[in-house]
Amino acid sequence: MNDKKIAKLQIGNVELENNIILGPMAGLTDRAFRIICEKFNPGLVVTEMISSRALFYGDEKTKKLLDTTGEKRPIAVQIFGSDTDSMAYSAKFICDNYDIDIIDINMGCPAPKIVKNGDGSKLLLDTNKVYDITKSVSKNSRVPVTVKIRKGWDSEHITAVENAKAIEQAGASAITVHGRTRAEFYSGVADWDIIKKVKENVNIPVIGNGDIKTVYDAKKIIEQTGCDRNNGLKSKLRKSLDI
Ligand SMILES: Cc1cc2nc3c(=O)[nH]c(=O)nc-3n(C[C@H](O)[C@H](O)[C@H](O)COP(=O)(O)O)c2cc1C
Repeated sequence: MNDKKIAKLQIGNVELENNIILGPMAGLTDRAFRIICEKFNPGLVVTEMISSRALFYGDEKTKKLLDTTGEKRPIAVQIFGSDTDSMAYSAKFICDNYDIDIIDINMGCPAPKIVKNGDGSKLLLDTNKVYDITKSVSKNSRVPVTVKIRKGWDSEHITAVENAKAIEQAGASAITVHGRTRAEFYSGVADWDIIKKVKENVNIPVIGNGDIKTVYDAKKIIEQTGCDRNNGLKSKLRKSLDI
């Protein structure tokens, strides 16, 4: 790909060299995996999801997941939880003790053991909570905060647009939208139209997610949804970056 065609992406004060981001995957995107992925030059990589409650209680095993020593930058740490105090604590603890670039909040995990505690995608049913958690993490973080959501909880609760607006108002610098509901888990086809709708309703960058398996899928999702373009950039700058 011609250099000029590679779209840079600005997330708060962090500039990504390109708009291809390695999705967080618990049990997979550990340090060794992320280092292997460096070869493919992703614009950003994200850790596995990390429990804010475990950090709050000082769990040493959980702290090991925060080790990104020697890895290429920028790097985001993903945290999950539904209690504003432990989420705020984790944001401050991570910023004070680790050299990371972005804090991402998981509001999409569908796993029963996560949603039974009110965490992950369960939050998608409570927009006020989505706002409060994003706000408390943003207030306690010296790095930009991003949030990863799903289309909604199920076909009766398609909440992506209202939640995305709350997330933007609460101070987040970007939103990732996985185009499936919690009820769908990882099945079926991701709905990219919902990503387009979110993109039309917020001014922060929107990262499209779901069913991106090839470079052609990546191009297609950008064309179809307008995601990964940074509205915040002045049009002249955008033109010069060709995005
Ligand atoms: C094994 C596995 C673990 C995952 N762990 C996380 C996670 O820790 N945090 C997160 O936000 N998403 C997680 N995801 C979701 C992915 O980041 C991504 O949103 C999803 O796989 C997109 O759908 P696709 O498989 O159609 O590309 C996980 C997915 C898989 C398959």
